[in-house]
Amino acid sequence: MSAVGIVAAAGSGSRLGADLPKALVPLAGRPLVVWAVESLLAGGVAEVVVAVPAADRAAFAAALPGTVQLVDGGATRTASVRAGLAAAGPAADAVLVHDAARPLTPPEVVARVLAALATGAPAVVPVLPVVDTTVVVDEAGTVTAAVPRASLRRVQTPQGFDRAVLVAAYAALEDGVELTDDAAVVRAAGVAVGTVEGDERAAKVTVPHDLHLAGLQVGR
Ligand code: C5P
Repeated sequence: MSAVGIVAAAGSGSRLGADLPKALVPLAGRPLVVWAVESLLAGGVAEVVVAVPAADRAAFAAALPGTVQLVDGGATRTASVRAGLAAAGPAADAVLVHDAARPLTPPEVVARVLAALATGAPAVVPVLPVVDTTVVVDEAGTVTAAVPRASLRRVQTPQGFDRAVLVAAYAALEDGVELTDDAAVVRAAGVAVGTVEGDERAAKVTVPHDLHLAGLQVGR
């Protein structure tokens, strides 16, 4: 089985308070997107396509190895992944979709996703349990229900797919529909999504505190 990685890196850095695209924000001197690409390659992905903000293509090209293919991302994550999928070479039979915003994903998580695909799973996501009490609130912020957390999971990336399954699911998804991850795209097409164990180190960098924690993880 050979796998292509698609890295969604076309988001802005607004919630991080950065004046450059989030994927270019440095962690221990290297942009988040560089960490994310290296994690995919170290975990066993053969080829990587990165969806970038069109206006910043040159800066991404300067930061990443020449073997990494760049494509212009879209206005939403869904549009960015769609662009990456269209640009990926035809050789791979599996696709791993990853967020540049998860720079410290251990290669073992990538390997677990690939191993599940190798056993024939059409779609697989890394997950972690929910450890906090989780509730529903109304518009005023008053708690209206507690959600039993035993069956809840937090979903991370990279998410792995049989390539034909993902291509067909994106083709069936109407243009303009925005979903927060790719598992939702294949589930909308009726595909069962399996799970493997995620890792706290694969946490998403969204707000400045997340970047601080990632810095502590790498000793900075
Ligand atoms: O905004 P959020 O952190 O949920 O984005 C998740 C990932 O999707 C990030 O790596 C971001 O760069 C990417 N993204 C994208 N294109 C967009 C918006 C987000 O590739 N239009």
